[in-house]
Amino acid sequence: MKISDFKQLAHEKLKLQFSSNEVNQLLTILIEERLSLNRLDLIKVGDITLKPEHELRLITDLNLLAQNKPVQYILGQVNFFGLKLLVDENVLIPRDETEELVALICEDYRLKQANPARIIDFGTGSGCIALSMAKVFPTATVEAWDISEGALGLAQENAKLNQIEIDFQRKSILAEQLEENQLYDLMISNPPYIPPSQKMGMEERVLQYEPDLALFVDEKEPLLFYAAIVKMAKVNLKQGGSLYFEINQYLADQTLSLVSEGFESELLRDLNGNSRFIRAIKA
Ligand SMILES: C[S@@+](CC[C@H](N)C(=O)[O-])C[C@H]1O[C@@H](n2cnc3c(N)ncnc32)[C@H](O)[C@@H]1O
Repeated sequence: MKISDFKQLAHEKLKLQFSSNEVNQLLTILIEERLSLNRLDLIKVGDITLKPEHELRLITDLNLLAQNKPVQYILGQVNFFGLKLLVDENVLIPRDETEELVALICEDYRLKQANPARIIDFGTGSGCIALSMAKVFPTATVEAWDISEGALGLAQENAKLNQIEIDFQRKSILAEQLEENQLYDLMISNPPYIPPSQKMGMEERVLQYEPDLALFVDEKEPLLFYAAIVKMAKVNLKQGGSLYFEINQYLADQTLSLVSEGFESELLRDLNGNSRFIRAIKA
């Protein structure tokens, strides 16, 4: 089978799930990865006949895509803020917005000409936020909590892979407190924030493959995680320290109201213009 035959087959097989542009993007990612070629080399080699092992691998990938499996889980890795991170079904696939949040935090500290010495990431998943912070602020101590053993295992592998040290802890945001005398410069969280009633608008492949534990929150108390973290920030964030949240844009004002007292806080928009982040500086 030539590359062009494989592409034709893929367009036929995936036409109900993806637009033609999306299929092209997925094919480029898969072919580059499976043939170990970069984009330029792929153009240079042209329409070659696939080796049997590559053909078998790509057909398997195609069948998984047809079953809605996200390409990131098929490949088992993503690039996030210059880091290579392993991902599997224990962790949320890191989103572009989260990378935006990390970039925003870095820019804030660059402008302040300061470096946070002690950082905590609540609900770390793959470790994407904690690892990025530790990479950008190499002298900082970084702690990261998650309740999921599977997520923490993978986050630990990611730390090893990138030769970064993080103090990972299996702790529940809802059940544990930080020790009263422990003070942090920077707290960050992208906690679960989707009430089940919002499932309707979500992509099938997210619902089918990504962990419910990472996505959903109690319908009646959708801001539960934020409230618990703000409570800890009131005790354990240094004066002048920063708290950043990724938030549900449909609950933006309610989430902001949690940090209306004791913080100078504001809603920040993502590149699509949606209110997706909060920055709160402790007064
Ligand atoms: C939206 S995901 C964010 C993952 C990662 N920080 C990111 O931005 O891609 C939320 C994370 O919170 C974790 N989580 C859910 N309930 C928790 C709890 N009670 N305490 C600590 N972590 C929790 C989930 O396992 C998941 O990894």
